Amino acid sequence: MSILFDDNRKTYTIHTRSSTYQMQLAPTGHLLHLYYGRRAEGCFDYLIRSRDCGFSPNPYELRYQREWSLDTQMQEYSGAQNGDYRLSAILPVTAEGIHGADLRYVRHEIRPGKYALRGLPAAFARDSEAETLSITLADAASGTEVELLYSVYEALDVITRAVRVTNAGKAALRLEKVASLCLDLPFGDWELLHFHGRHCMERQLERVPLMTGIQTVGSKRGMSSHQHNPFTILCAHDATEDAGECYGVMPVYSGNHKTEIETDQMGATRVVSGIHDEGFSWTLAPGETFDAPEALLSFSHEGLTKLSQTYHRFIRDNLCRSKFSNAPRPVLLNSWEACYFDFDAEKLLSLAREAKNLGVDMLVLDDGWFGKRDDDLSGLGDWYVNENKLHGGLAPLVKQVNDLGLKFGIWIEPEMVNEDSELYRAHPDWALTVPGRGPAMGRDQLVLDMGRKDVVDYLYAVLSALLRDNHIEYIKWDFNRGLADVYSRVLPPERQGEAAHRYVLGMYDLLDRLTTAFPDVLFEGCAGGGGRFDAGMLAYVPQIWCSDNTDAIERLAIQYGTSFGYPASSMGAHVSASPNHQTGRSTPLETRAVVAMSGTFGYELDPALLSAEEKNAIRDQLARQRKYDALIRGGDYYRLTDPRDAKRIAAWQFVAPDKSEALLNVVVTHPEANPRPLHLRLKGLDPDASYQLDSDARVYSGAALMYGGCTLDALFGDYPAAQLYFHKV
Ligand code: GLA
Repeated sequence: MSILFDDNRKTYTIHTRSSTYQMQLAPTGHLLHLYYGRRAEGCFDYLIRSRDCGFSPNPYELRYQREWSLDTQMQEYSGAQNGDYRLSAILPVTAEGIHGADLRYVRHEIRPGKYALRGLPAAFARDSEAETLSITLADAASGTEVELLYSVYEALDVITRAVRVTNAGKAALRLEKVASLCLDLPFGDWELLHFHGRHCMERQLERVPLMTGIQTVGSKRGMSSHQHNPFTILCAHDATEDAGECYGVMPVYSGNHKTEIETDQMGATRVVSGIHDEGFSWTLAPGETFDAPEALLSFSHEGLTKLSQTYHRFIRDNLCRSKFSNAPRPVLLNSWEACYFDFDAEKLLSLAREAKNLGVDMLVLDDGWFGKRDDDLSGLGDWYVNENKLHGGLAPLVKQVNDLGLKFGIWIEPEMVNEDSELYRAHPDWALTVPGRGPAMGRDQLVLDMGRKDVVDYLYAVLSALLRDNHIEYIKWDFNRGLADVYSRVLPPERQGEAAHRYVLGMYDLLDRLTTAFPDVLFEGCAGGGGRFDAGMLAYVPQIWCSDNTDAIERLAIQYGTSFGYPASSMGAHVSASPNHQTGRSTPLETRAVVAMSGTFGYELDPALLSAEEKNAIRDQLARQRKYDALIRGGDYYRLTDPRDAKRIAAWQFVAPDKSEALLNVVVTHPEANPRPLHLRLKGLDPDASYQLDSDARVYSGAALMYGGCTLDALFGDYPAAQLYFHKV
């Protein structure tokens, strides 16, 4: 039993393998948070604060006990307008205009298995993997009922949380904020790790101390965004990769999000995370419910690497429903950087022949194959083949590619429309625009109102026909601009605040229907690179294009930042041409391969431009990739250095779960004359086992490699790289 209710003390205790989470019902019916941290037995109610704190009010029934205030108690899900001035988790507004909620206990239930959410992606559980606690709280004045859901994966050290709000009153209720979780930490010196960025430079790690006051990470772009990934970590000031306490908060959501962290007057910290509340509102008729997205919570007292590994495993095994999640993926050649919009069937077939000759598994036809699409000014929305480029249609091309022994994949951007398209001319009202105002354009395109069922049904019909009529084995699902002018032509005025979330629900619906109907098609997410790299998308697709920046040296920092939350098996990474098209930098082919191999591997270049020597090098890369594939996809990931610091090497490592093999990857980011030795200590090996390096007859103990480390031969030239493969003997 991972969830226990103690009726005497009115405590709920959740145990995972290495963490404990505890709550208690106060005599007032408020649900207090007592503890979340390293696994421990006993009751933590001695931590409850009881000290009069000036200007912190007291609930009416405790008005003579000034030492008890909601403003200083740790709470499980904070209300609003009830005397707790810190971050609110929920803000309901009644028909009479009553704002806020004071949430008190109604009932609870402990049941086997995992809860499910309606229309939203969520983790799943097999057999007895998870147990669920449901605690219902309610606010009498507004009729708001809040069901807090916790599914506990004891062995995996993950607690998933979600919130279901019901209007238990007699009149309509408007929700202006509904967080997925609230987490109060009474003590500690915490730092925030968050992953910011921009197009071509996603998920850059920043680690900052918490200030007294509120820090916010979020996106109002209608997408999880290049700028602020929804995943955040709070860690102890002294936490490192290998030691120290850290908490991860991972929203399973791809739209507007906000994570707020407040350190209050007494030094306590509150995290509130969920859908961004700006512009958001949701109206519930009496009896209706609203599900807030799920968030995945994990705690590690053994540092950041452990926390990351927990998320990696969980995403692969318990979040992503694709059959490809734990399966080998085809190595692909993508046409984008090879020819952009400039191709015809003959060019594609020559790419396919070259790809086959190298040993690649699949040709992916990127943008430009449909409608009137010769540049990025037109055609989006018209998902039928551009006969000017591909005479006779897709089917003969696919057949010829298949006849060469290659699979065929294709790019789509279903949520978008160009003004210059048949679809827009037929249905201008399908795009998100505000009446009386010219819409903000992005890459010359508009966004379809995915909150409309007719739009989603239309896209499903067109795209399922595309997949049915052609032997397409891979889809790259792109999304190349953020939302603006979020105004839906089908919602009444009082419901316009629902449009952005309804958009995400419609997008999930389409993704769900297509991935369910075509389980054998491998789907890859993409959003101008990695602008929608989040756990919501990863519930449907096993891999996401990490960034439009394919420069191997820049990718080191992007993939490093991404690795804090997301597994290597989810990171789309390709070898592209040198000099690189985004930065102009030249890097060795080997370095580009070493970096891309730590993701879902492929090439994004024109092989016809390669020398015979380079082609042979690629054949060797493909052989190595196949050998290391299972280890990289399913192994434990260790960050050995931070590639952005001045120590001149980026190093990371994969270790098989049974510790039978390990792969050390090294890139020199700053070559030196008369270099100091490159020395690294490996991690995660079996100290008592003997390991042999592939290229060397010598045998090392795991302990020697971890404690004494290994010294690499000097690497010479611009950005050289090495891969060292160790196996147990
Ligand atoms: C986005 C993607 C690229 C490519 C182009 C095509 O930018 O991230 O990989 O598919 O669109 O227009």
